[in-house]
Amino acid sequence: MRAADISDQLSTVLVTEEEIQRKLAELAARVDADYAGKDLLLVGVLKGAVMVMADFARSLQSDITMDWMAVSSYGAGTKSSGVVQIRKDLDTDLHGKHVLIVEDIIDSGLTLSWLLENFASRGAESIEVLALLRKPEAAKVKIDCKYVGFDIPNEFVVGYGLDYAERYRNLRDVAVLAPHVYA
Ligand code: XMP
Ligand code: MG
Repeated sequence: MRAADISDQLSTVLVTEEEIQRKLAELAARVDADYAGKDLLLVGVLKGAVMVMADFARSLQSDITMDWMAVSSYGAGTKSSGVVQIRKDLDTDLHGKHVLIVEDIIDSGLTLSWLLENFASRGAESIEVLALLRKPEAAKVKIDCKYVGFDIPNEFVVGYGLDYAERYRNLRDVAVLAPHVYA
């Protein structure tokens, strides 16, 4: 039983729990092969990537290390400001590390392009990106994302880590938020 029924706050389910798990297993097999024999550091971007990280990291066979970064560019709204603020920095020195950034979603791409530049200046050996979701129509900058889960339409989505004003992160599927919720 839910504390409150939220089905009237969602319009469509875009990606189901099963589809997510299947896709993450596929991506994990690719990452295992691509990083064989290398030390891989997964960097999760808080808070949205928590669910992706938890499930993706456990789908990997490889021995990895994990770190987290918290940045914010959104506030409580639904549009990227492009202004990125570090709220929690990495604990790890990136020198010589193979870094895979784990993201929930690439929307405008502004956050990731900022992160990629920031990480490049810290001496990582390699930097790649894994994103569960991507909105191709929303791109403002081109991001070279090697591991993409699903391309989705340009609509505000919630669930599986993604929030609206901190709500809906614990939904198991990814769904479009009904416009009346934020109108
Ligand atoms: P950008 O636009 O910089 O996106 O690529 C940065 C961050 O914004 C969040 N984001 C969303 N969160 N539903 C959400 O709950 C969405 O549709 C959405 N689009 C972007 C997300 O944290 C992403 O990392
Ligand atoms: Mg968010």
